[in-house]
Amino acid sequence: MAQAVLFHSGKVPPAGWLAAIARLAPEIEVRTLDTLGDPAEIDVAISWRLPSGTFKHLTGLKLMQCSGAGVDQLLADPELPPDLPLARMVDPLQADEMVAFALWAVVEQHRDLARYRAAIQQQEWLFQPQTSMRSRRVGVLGLGAMGGKLAARLAALGFATAGWARTARTIPGVTVHHGAEGLAALLADSHILVNLLPLTRETRGLLNLSLFRQLPKGARVINLGRGPHLVEEDLLTALAEGHLASALLDVFTTEPLPEGHPFWSHPQITITPHIASLADPNHAAEQVVENIRRVRAGLPALNLVDRQLGY
Ligand code: GLV
Repeated sequence: MAQAVLFHSGKVPPAGWLAAIARLAPEIEVRTLDTLGDPAEIDVAISWRLPSGTFKHLTGLKLMQCSGAGVDQLLADPELPPDLPLARMVDPLQADEMVAFALWAVVEQHRDLARYRAAIQQQEWLFQPQTSMRSRRVGVLGLGAMGGKLAARLAALGFATAGWARTARTIPGVTVHHGAEGLAALLADSHILVNLLPLTRETRGLLNLSLFRQLPKGARVINLGRGPHLVEEDLLTALAEGHLASALLDVFTTEPLPEGHPFWSHPQITITPHIASLADPNHAAEQVVENIRRVRAGLPALNLVDRQLGY
């Protein structure tokens, strides 16, 4: 029986991925839902999320390869077969793009650039006193492939940097906290909090009012993880009561952000439309091809997700 790979993407045009895989591995036949043919021939599916009703036709599937770093949307799919190996993207270039975006976000919050943008719109030449990076304490939630690199770069730039992870680790120049007690210590000392955690049972709703109130008054929050990390009404409350000064968000509970949502026009909230960092097929296709070859050789795929941990 012929073997083929299915590529499906909701928002990224498939041409870049198809070309990148064809260049690296011309022997691998890649189909889309439009050119699916016999679904039983598909042994690997590459997608961020498959349309409802697709999995049940893919009876020969041996690997679900996520085309993104976060797999929560696939784990939340009740149709994902329970024993199907699931691999996530761990792409150093995607991590670098995220680090660059997060550095911009931290500087944006550190220098209060939203106030300058508002003043400039009014043709007002605003001056605000400057706080040095050394006295600005930045806390990074999640020290994996992206958060760990970000914390190291922030420290190298001169920000007073701390981080929090589930388990202990060492990053030069960074104060690392871990476990439940470690979280309280990180929060008490973070003027700018950046979330880069994976979305799991434990981290869903973590960015809530009780967490915000553990941050110093006037703190700023950046969410680059997933929308459901944040309890959106709690952010509005913490801003309204003056405990938080501002927020920068790239991800939302409902995407696209619904029309009329208060985040579109809130003066203390800067938003971007889930664009912080996408895997570039020209680079990320290498690990996908490697995983296809491994599966076909009877080897376990790389970067397999631990379904209990949720990442
Ligand atoms: C993007 O959100 C990703 O998970 O890669």
